[in-house]
Amino acid sequence: MEDHHIGKWTDVTPVASLVAPAERRLGVLNRAPVTLWLTGLSGSGKSTLSFTLERALLNVGKAAFVLDGDNIRCGLSSDLTFTSSDRMENIRRTAEVARLMNEAGLIVIVSLISPAAEDRRRARNIIGERFFREIYLSATLSVCEFRDPKGLYRKARTGEIASFTGVSAPYEVPQEPDLELDTGIISVAECIERMLCLIE
Ligand code: ADX
Repeated sequence: MEDHHIGKWTDVTPVASLVAPAERRLGVLNRAPVTLWLTGLSGSGKSTLSFTLERALLNVGKAAFVLDGDNIRCGLSSDLTFTSSDRMENIRRTAEVARLMNEAGLIVIVSLISPAAEDRRRARNIIGERFFREIYLSATLSVCEFRDPKGLYRKARTGEIASFTGVSAPYEVPQEPDLELDTGIISVAECIERMLCLIE
């Protein structure tokens, strides 16, 4: 078992399943599962692409599940704020869930701003190099702000929302993403095609 899963408790011992990960993958999907980690500014199209891709995969009989930031923050991470340490914890929790879902044989699509490169690197480490694909939605701040689907940029500009990514909190651009999609230019259909190619 990898280091980060040993945890901090000396009186807690991880228990191994009688079903090997490879055996489970063969049984459920007949292929290796993967986590597509979509990162980008608010309004860059993460949720739209994630749920469209999930639908497309289910349509061809592939079991997939979306872990979407706004949804996760309504439940699993409802105790967390948008400070950098709480974002780190939000990303860690989501990565651990993605790892479990991959182990259960599902394709996982994560849709989180995940603004810090170090947090994304940790997520890659938790999920495993083999299963992790980083997808950078590179729509510019001006495109995202023009879209402003939830009216949050407007609130961020007036100071009604503090530490808003891209306005009053940083976003670190991925240096070597597995895939970059500029959703300001490329259509949803084309983005889905490219993500499906990455999965294959
Ligand atoms: S992350 O930084 O921890 O990865 P996450 O993707 O979970 O963020 O949540 C982002 C969503 O929370 C945005 O889509 C937006 O709707 C909402 N939100 C509320 N406050 C903020 C904020 N200060 N910065 C960014 N997003 C925020």
